[in-house]
Amino acid sequence: MSVQSKSRSEVTINTLVRMKQEGEKFACITAYDYCNAYAAAAAGVELILVGDSLGMVIQGHDSSLPVTIEDMAYHMRCVKRGNRGSLLVADLPFMSYYSESKSLENAAILMREGAQMVKLEGGAWLAESTRLLTQRGIPVCAHMGLTPQSVNHLGGYRVQGRDPEKAQAIIDEARVLQDSGASVILLECVPEALGKKLTASLEVPVIGIGAGGHTDGQILVWHDLLGLYPGKQYRFVKNFLKGNSDGIQGALQEYVKQVKSGEFPAKEHVYT
Ligand code: KIV
Repeated sequence: MSVQSKSRSEVTINTLVRMKQEGEKFACITAYDYCNAYAAAAAGVELILVGDSLGMVIQGHDSSLPVTIEDMAYHMRCVKRGNRGSLLVADLPFMSYYSESKSLENAAILMREGAQMVKLEGGAWLAESTRLLTQRGIPVCAHMGLTPQSVNHLGGYRVQGRDPEKAQAIIDEARVLQDSGASVILLECVPEALGKKLTASLEVPVIGIGAGGHTDGQILVWHDLLGLYPGKQYRFVKNFLKGNSDGIQGALQEYVKQVKSGEFPAKEHVYT
């Protein structure tokens, strides 16, 4: 296999902010290894997430809870070698940010491996860690809505923010995190109306997964986008490999195209 040199300018957080301001959608995907990251970047995704979903799709666990900081560092290292200009974000895994000092210590491990931003799951309780990390030069993505590391507390992988009070709480807490320095909000599995309202009420870019078609960017898990995961398929998932005669690279390019045109997510992928 021939490895090309970097062919496009690097995506930074400023790129995403500019795209939000100009109403241009951006595409994101998870990656866990060298080839996976290389193919994603070549397809033109703006952001690659080394997600702790690797606990399920790579390691075969039934949740992301067993994933360790060492696992994340290993996969971050592999992805960094394959990336060609996409913004690299890494998940802080379960219990690796239970205190502010722990979040700084573990975020530093992932940044040294090549992450350009770290993602933490939660709401306003993350304000102090978010402030500490950003003040120390570590950009933060806050993951809200359905937060898979809290699956036991939530009673399963369920749509969040269905009732108006809970929806308002998500918006209020996202504002707290934005004010604390969060650079991006990732919103998972909420009604489309909430995705739309949150995106409009924040200055920072909002990435959606199962959050409807109005967020600034969309993200899918690599294995879902290619129909590789044998477990439960959620409503917001689309298999872009099915029927695509150009294989994996064609599927990735189609995903990027459909995100940018607004064709994905379609009505059948959103919660009302
Ligand atoms: O870990 C992950 O892959 C994620 C996605 C659900 C966005 O956080």
